[in-house]
Amino acid sequence: MEEAQPRFGVWALVCGTWASLNDPRDPFDATWDRNRTQILEAEALGYQTTLVAQHTINPFGDQYEELETWTACAALAALTTNIEIIAAIKPYLYHPVVLAKMALGIEDISHGRFAINLVNAWYKPELERAGIVFAEHDERYAYGTEWLEIVKRLVSGETVSFQGRYFNVRDYGLKPASRHRSRPPIYVGGESDAARELVSKLADTWFINGQPPREVERLTRDVAARARPGEPVRFGLSAFVIARDTDEEAQEELAHAWRLAEKDKPQLEAVFRNADPKAVMFQTFAKYPHIGTNGGTAAGLVGSYDAVAARIQAFHRLGIGTFMLQFQPFEQEMRRFAHEVIPRVRRLVAHAA
Ligand SMILES: Cc1cc2nc3c(=O)[nH]c(=O)nc-3n(C[C@H](O)[C@H](O)[C@H](O)COP(=O)(O)O)c2cc1C
Repeated sequence: MEEAQPRFGVWALVCGTWASLNDPRDPFDATWDRNRTQILEAEALGYQTTLVAQHTINPFGDQYEELETWTACAALAALTTNIEIIAAIKPYLYHPVVLAKMALGIEDISHGRFAINLVNAWYKPELERAGIVFAEHDERYAYGTEWLEIVKRLVSGETVSFQGRYFNVRDYGLKPASRHRSRPPIYVGGESDAARELVSKLADTWFINGQPPREVERLTRDVAARARPGEPVRFGLSAFVIARDTDEEAQEELAHAWRLAEKDKPQLEAVFRNADPKAVMFQTFAKYPHIGTNGGTAAGLVGSYDAVAARIQAFHRLGIGTFMLQFQPFEQEMRRFAHEVIPRVRRLVAHAA
């Protein structure tokens, strides 16, 4: 379902960067202080949402820090007033009852601005080195489906009894449920058929990795056509933006980003070595080389301010309601996007209506 105007969000810098680890303009920094300042500024600039990814250890390598997602989200919830805060969650890391309780806690602290993004794990060392089984791809989704059903019912205020393959929950109800709405929204990030099935059954919004419009159209059609209960599914797109005065300047910056990416090769090779080969997301990445994570520049948001705004309008017409964005250097470019691109998109969409 397409919203009247697209919503814009930023990826919180919990991994320290979403692009090069070796950009002298953007030294690695995954601290709470940086993330707090980033999200407070994003809110002041008018960004409506933020995605706080979850990794207990940094996939770029053990030498890098990683900010803890759920404690950071609780603190962000207390400090902000308008921005939606979406926390990623990997089902194998928490029992669903505990996670639902935490979600309702942050829903309360944020006065109804919290959401969860279920992601089903791809970085094997994160689970394996903790002694948690890294189950086969579709098995992870079978587990995730039971897990999410329990969480969804609990955060909706239901008293839950659930007997499944993985969980046995009896007469469990959590108080308080949301004081502000029926429940926090549920996003899912994952591209496989199993992920799409999970989205149609249980999620409100599907996050798609950045990729060209024809692919995004194919994917949104596929998921929109699947049987589901309740409201039509909504769509979000992840993308890395390079917007400049002219197309030439944007292309120069892209070329510079590729030169920087050369320096990250050893870390990136380790990331790919440690990834689940069945993760469909990595198959997509191989098709579209890109800067940034989760598809990044493959969405094509690289060009003049007008070109990027027009591309966003085209995605919006395909049903993308939320754009979750990455930049480098992050804060400087997030400001530029807010000042130069968002007003252009607002005008284009309003005139087309
Ligand atoms: C917008 C978005 C955000 C994601 N965030 C995370 C994250 O925080 N942590 C993580 O481990 N994986 C994250 N993922 C990756 C998913 O876990 C990944 O798609 C999945 O493990 C692979 O499943 P697939 O085969 O269904 O693509 C994200 C994916 C998307 C699209």
